[in-house]
Amino acid sequence: MKISNLFVLIGILFISLQPGCIQREAGQNGAELWFSQMKAAGEVPVNHPKSIYVPEQSVTFDIIRKELENGLNTLFNTTILFSSEVEERTVVVGTADQEIIREKIDSTELQALGDDGFIIRADSTSGILLIAGNTDKAVLYGCWHYMRLLQTSDSSLQSINITEKPSYQRRILNHWDNLDRTVERGYAGYSIWKWDELPSVISPRYEQYARANASIGINGTVLNNVNANPDILTKEYLEKVKVLADIFRPYGIKVYLSVNFSSPKELGGLENSDPLNDQVKVWWNDKADEIYALIPDFGGFLVKANSEGLPGPQDYGRTHADGANMLADALAPHNGIVMWRAFVYNPDGDDRAKQAYKEFVPLDGQFHKNVIIQVKNGPIDFQPREPFSPLFGAMKHTTLMPELQITQEYLGFSDHLVYLGTLFEESLDADTYVDGRNSTVASITNGEMFNDSITAIAGVANIGDDANWCGHHFAQSSWYAFGRLAWNCDLSAKTIANEWLKQTFSHDEDFLASMTTTMMQSREAVVNYMTPIGLHHLMGWGHHYGPEPWCEVPGARPDWLPTYYHKADTFGIGFDRSSTGSQAVLQYAEPLRSIYDNPATCPEMYLLWFHHLPWDYVLHNGNTLWQELCYRYSNGVDRVKVFQNNWDSMKGKVDAQRFEEVQAKLAIQVKEAIWWRDACLLYFQTFSGMEIPHELDRPAHELDELKKLKFDMTHHN
Ligand code: GCU
Repeated sequence: MKISNLFVLIGILFISLQPGCIQREAGQNGAELWFSQMKAAGEVPVNHPKSIYVPEQSVTFDIIRKELENGLNTLFNTTILFSSEVEERTVVVGTADQEIIREKIDSTELQALGDDGFIIRADSTSGILLIAGNTDKAVLYGCWHYMRLLQTSDSSLQSINITEKPSYQRRILNHWDNLDRTVERGYAGYSIWKWDELPSVISPRYEQYARANASIGINGTVLNNVNANPDILTKEYLEKVKVLADIFRPYGIKVYLSVNFSSPKELGGLENSDPLNDQVKVWWNDKADEIYALIPDFGGFLVKANSEGLPGPQDYGRTHADGANMLADALAPHNGIVMWRAFVYNPDGDDRAKQAYKEFVPLDGQFHKNVIIQVKNGPIDFQPREPFSPLFGAMKHTTLMPELQITQEYLGFSDHLVYLGTLFEESLDADTYVDGRNSTVASITNGEMFNDSITAIAGVANIGDDANWCGHHFAQSSWYAFGRLAWNCDLSAKTIANEWLKQTFSHDEDFLASMTTTMMQSREAVVNYMTPIGLHHLMGWGHHYGPEPWCEVPGARPDWLPTYYHKADTFGIGFDRSSTGSQAVLQYAEPLRSIYDNPATCPEMYLLWFHHLPWDYVLHNGNTLWQELCYRYSNGVDRVKVFQNNWDSMKGKVDAQRFEEVQAKLAIQVKEAIWWRDACLLYFQTFSGMEIPHELDRPAHELDELKKLKFDMTHHN
């Protein structure tokens, strides 16, 4: 349980609201996630299914039977029984092992589904409904999808005929959870993995977690932080990991681990961890054998190496490819993969935004088949908005996977309502132009353009042990959206928001209209009140929460300080990454390179990312840069006030507990949006020397007061 949202404030008031102190009705605390509603979208049709036929046996089929029985009885408000034979209005569920499935569905159609795809088909001749796939987990996905459609679709599904196949083969959550149960950049309490109690005590949350993820198609989880403690590979921890893997397996979820590159030295007592040292190779081979003996379907390793002070192959004069390939070879006999992160930069190097590309592009083609390079959506680090990472499309002979951040490290933690479906959509739909139009990040990574044998996508989880899992009820929607987009990257963020609202809160039309709009605008609002027009990295040192564009820490790495990024001076503001600046634009394909290079054509949302422009630079709408900054910051604040009003007017349409908890969070968000606006505008004004347009609200604070604010991180875990 998150303790509170206390800030240590010197001089002025930012009162933290404590949701935990209000008395609650049971069962309305958000623990049920998107299973809270279970209500059919329309009238229950008179000829609804009347029996369920699921003859196949496996633990997964047991889950399918249980979920269908509960789900369909609730959704059709009746008693649907299992039948031992197929008759009219039976829901027939299973694989091609069943004769009726083979009879009704063409074998080529079934084959094309792969391991995870499914068909849901109403067979008009026999009056049955089929849910079929090649594996029991595919059938489970099909059942969840059928029940989701019953809850969210306006059509009665009487003539349904759909085929679904996931966009990415591996749809993976990355937990940044430490073995002591703290969570790096986690804002929803401690880790749900109770390492100290495992393997003997099994929290019911583990299975609930697997169920929730399976329901949205997530099929992998990296249990521990990328800043990996070598101890995760000890026998003691592997036995704990095995217990989790056993619980997740029937839900189709594979376990992966983050590993520390120095493990052979730290754990194994070897002289070094040099990837070309034979003893090191043997150590990893043995470790892989040990893991697979416990967990035969273990997914593989995630590796952060030579990044932010962590060890890696470069410590021995080797390349990232040498390191990744050595690990990949240890896993290959077991069909495991290595996800090797491209998140590398160092303070002495070139513009940080260019470094991953410079490091990895020369290695293109050198990685073994079971290595996949995990690339953050943008070139810096999960900012409220970044252009796409130019690595996407630049490594044509290497498999790449996008890494998105579900946890709101830079977007107000779990205090701000920010639905990230729109950010994920923008990132995946970004057109790189590396092979003409429509060379989107999604099509580069999901196998469409490069026919990769492995495809994957990762999301840094926002899950903790808070009753509502994510700290903010609406933060659940970003977890949900990640899963849905990983399954189908063509879905729109709006469709997903609407789906989630219906299953989580209510089918009330006013509620849906108002809250879908709020969710859809929420990310743009946070961009505006934190980092509009391409600004980035203005947040405070270490904690990454509030605004500190002025931040100076004696002796600190310059690339961890906001001034490195905004470069405000009396002339203007922004990072010159143009062809006459750091030349980061040159890492993009044409025509983007030229478009970004010219301030007149650069999309305004990236303007100060790529250009350092004078305060009186005139934008397309006629505003000067300074004026536009003022309008954007104000607009961000105004939007959040509208969100607050919208939510207030929903009283009675959602249960009291969640209503009040969201209300309390919105009160924090409004105050903090004002904090961001005032801090940034007042600070930048010291350089621009220009007035805030008179029609806009005056800042509510003094710059000196804001500079004295300190944020107490201990309360955010
Ligand atoms: C950011 C974040 C770190 C994290 C790192 C990573 O720098 O602040 O906490 O470890 O990203 O992605 O590895």
